[in-house]
Amino acid sequence: MSIAITGANGKLGSLIIKQLLQKSPQEQIIACVRRLESGKSYEEQGISVRLCDYDQPESLEQAFAGVSQLLMISSSHHDDTIRLRQHAHVIEAAKKSKVEHIFYTSFAFLENGSSSPVWLHLATEYAIRTAGIPFTFLRNALYTDFVEVLDLHAAIKKGRLDIAPGDWKFHSVTRFDLAAAIAAVLTGHGHKNKAYELTASRTWTFVDLAAALSSLSGKSISVHQNPEIQHWIYRFISKIDVSSLSDDLEKLLGRPVMPLTESIKTLISSARQD
Ligand SMILES: NC(=O)c1ccc[n+]([C@@H]2O[C@H](COP(=O)([O-])OP(=O)(O)OC[C@H]3O[C@@H](n4cnc5c(N)ncnc54)[C@H](OP(=O)(O)O)[C@@H]3O)[C@@H](O)[C@H]2O)c1
Repeated sequence: MSIAITGANGKLGSLIIKQLLQKSPQEQIIACVRRLESGKSYEEQGISVRLCDYDQPESLEQAFAGVSQLLMISSSHHDDTIRLRQHAHVIEAAKKSKVEHIFYTSFAFLENGSSSPVWLHLATEYAIRTAGIPFTFLRNALYTDFVEVLDLHAAIKKGRLDIAPGDWKFHSVTRFDLAAAIAAVLTGHGHKNKAYELTASRTWTFVDLAAALSSLSGKSISVHQNPEIQHWIYRFISKIDVSSLSDDLEKLLGRPVMPLTESIKTLISSARQD
């Protein structure tokens, strides 16, 4: 058996490989990277490194030769039309290379959203189904570190977290938990032709975030709904489902997801150093 991971140098990909190393012999892991020179640290660990550029279909066919399981990490390109073409290249190459099982990092509760990234993920899921390759869709929740864009440093300084008005609730999780669950799926059995909604099993609110900030900073922080806040993140999160719940992730992990305070700890320690 061989497991190839695209986007192997990305934040999620590298966490998944770290987890896989605890479950599988390194000879079974193939790190697919956009630039071969960036795969040095994998080679040093005995992991094969292959060139894999979503914009170069010929690189993909070579990368997937002999691969039984392929984890396709969704492209990080900002243009969803280009992402769609890149994903099609990966799926086509997987089909030509006779990959036995494709795993795809999709997005949670797609059917409830209405934005271009949602349609991109749905289109990719359908393209995988169309190719006829057995699949597993790993529908990842919003990463909890999205809160970085809310200027937590300023909130700690002011003792007040300013947010756009609304009844905001989040099922977000850390990449760490997602990586652990994805590694469990990649090395486990009974996951063919299934979709998992990888969210927390409880939501958190901005009041919870302020409480977490207070406990980490030692300062009292309140929440203030401010109609003048016009940040793009609110437009983004209002068009995707960020609050529906599933216990798929905790079942795969066999433990609860990381608590909010723990999840934002590193963000706050870097903010405190500024
Ligand atoms: N659930 C969420 O909240 C959320 C948030 C943001 C993004 N995402 C999605 O989740 C994916 C993984 O997240 P992440 O944090 O690991 O992102 P990341 O750190 O930006 O990693 C993305 C990976 O994709 C690779 N990549 C980009 N374009 C490529 C191409 N043309 N050919 C081959 N590889 C390419 C990058 O390669 P290099 O290392 O060479 O740059 C990188 O390794 C993202 O790509 C995005 O689609 C989800």
